[in-house]
Amino acid sequence: MQRKLKEQYLIRDCSIDGDSLVVAWQDEARSRFPLEWLRRSVRTEQCFAPDSLEYVDNPLLAEVASQPVRGVELRDQTLVLRWRDEAEAFDGAWLRVQDERLPAELDPRRIQRSWDEAFEIPSLQLEEALEDPSWISGLHRDGILVIRGIGPDDQRAAELALERVAAEIGVLHRRIHPTDINVLIPAPKNIGLDKAYTGGDLEYHTDAPYYDPPPKIALLFCQTIEGGPPPINYFSDGYAVARALEQHHPEEYELLTDTKVNFARRRPRSHHEELGQSQTRYALDTQIFAPFISTDERNNPSVIRIHTRSVTGLAASTSGDRLRAFSGAYRRFNSMFGSDPFVRELVLEPGTLVLFDNHRLGHARSAIDPATRRVANLCYIDEYVWNSRLRLIFAEKADLPERWLKGCSTRALQQLANRWE
Ligand SMILES: [Fe+2]
Repeated sequence: MQRKLKEQYLIRDCSIDGDSLVVAWQDEARSRFPLEWLRRSVRTEQCFAPDSLEYVDNPLLAEVASQPVRGVELRDQTLVLRWRDEAEAFDGAWLRVQDERLPAELDPRRIQRSWDEAFEIPSLQLEEALEDPSWISGLHRDGILVIRGIGPDDQRAAELALERVAAEIGVLHRRIHPTDINVLIPAPKNIGLDKAYTGGDLEYHTDAPYYDPPPKIALLFCQTIEGGPPPINYFSDGYAVARALEQHHPEEYELLTDTKVNFARRRPRSHHEELGQSQTRYALDTQIFAPFISTDERNNPSVIRIHTRSVTGLAASTSGDRLRAFSGAYRRFNSMFGSDPFVRELVLEPGTLVLFDNHRLGHARSAIDPATRRVANLCYIDEYVWNSRLRLIFAEKADLPERWLKGCSTRALQQLANRWE
């Protein structure tokens, strides 16, 4: 069946104006592309090695004398530019998504839309997740997903099941820890090493904010609950919190996007020392400066960091006035995570896995009843692995020859994947 392009991807007219190509699109938008840029952005088949798609002939290095363009013509939504001695074809939709000045049809605010009142955490069974990976784009949209029916209650089986789900996305994040899948069993012997390993309640936080970037997708699996009631897990839409702060307290939002905070973690001794493994290998000392709210090139929140236990002050150059204002903004931001419109509760029953976007969601947990024995498994996917999976999904939908897909921004790929009516 012939697919129909949305009007913004249809070229109405094209012409050469001085040293630029001017493209008029059906939606009334116009783009200008410098001819020199076009000349050095060619995507002919001969440019690339057929298997690796690496440049054989990088046009940025070519000695191209200033060559007058003889003309441009439109052939079935492909622009053909004729230089003095050759012609180069450019895919029209590819050109459209290169023009980043045009308004974003797929604004992250609309794709990763804030949870509205009706939002419920999506849930599916393990077999469904392994059969159909469309949950991956759902996780990108909602920031959270539950997968049920992972059993039995056995450590190795749990790790294998987690690995199978994670493998749908890509490789696990390597940890400075004896395993990449970390097992959390609240036990008194661990108190004092890391609060997440104790039964005490956990305030809203994002995991590992002392890395740049922090791990992107967290997979938290409940293997065992016995002897008492399960605790409650809380998830809060950090992008929605940040946008609400921006709307109602813009000066505080600015302070939290502009001020670099010191995030640090220091663990000179491994909490697996009882296993007799090398303590040096698993020791950790890390520190970065980063804001609570990082933003992308279009000023949308991109990475949220909150983690009271890791925040280790500000730079000494911060003025007293700024520090006082910052402290107030920080208190408000922290408290907003637990407030009504942003929060969803989840009781993690045995055999249940929750995946969440650790760059977007804050999470918290009620105290664990002293009578409850709970075994949870935790692992992560890094941002570059996650982005790669999303890009491959978009690229498949975009359905263009490889040479046009290579080098597109993720946003451009997503637009190309959605360019049909
Ligand atoms: Fe956590």
